[in-house]
Amino acid sequence: MTFSDAEKAAIVSILGKVSGNVNALGAEAMERMFLGFPQTKTYFNHFDLSHGSTDLHTHGGKILSALVEAGKHVDNLEGSLSKLSDLHAYNLRVDPGNFKLLSHCILVTLASHLPADFDASTHAAFDKFIAAVSHYLTSKYR
Ligand code: HEM
Repeated sequence: MTFSDAEKAAIVSILGKVSGNVNALGAEAMERMFLGFPQTKTYFNHFDLSHGSTDLHTHGGKILSALVEAGKHVDNLEGSLSKLSDLHAYNLRVDPGNFKLLSHCILVTLASHLPADFDASTHAAFDKFIAAVSHYLTSKYR
């Protein structure tokens, strides 16, 4: 999957604004996923999923930090996400359909916190980025 210079600039700009607030934004995205799509909670039985919990903040931070890191390697997402892809496919065995649900919730969270940044082309570029990340994270299932 390739990204134009304009798409890369939009992705890097959004991730730059996310990087200082990964825990809170990630927690909100997870909470939106659990409320909107309760079936996703089955993977997180061992977490405290109550509003504002430390588990949500810690794990939400890990997810968004992984996106920030991936944003540094948009030309080599496959290689840079390989370890995380192994984890989700072989260890966690997350059903690939759930990636669309989380991606949607991340997009809504970021758009609602950065409304001035999310014009249509930035929206499209970030959607493409997160879909590409999800694609590589689910590419090892067989
Ligand atoms: C773990 C990222 C999607 C379920 C993780 C970790 C990261 C991560 C960075 C921690 C890895 C480590 O500790 O080494 C992402 C990203 C996603 C994504 C970037 C998509 C954009 C999902 C989805 C689910 C899921 C859709 C299920 C609905 C889990 C679970 C863990 C995990 C259960 C282990 C939690 C624990 O016990 O600590 N993910 N993930 N992930 N992920 Fe994902």
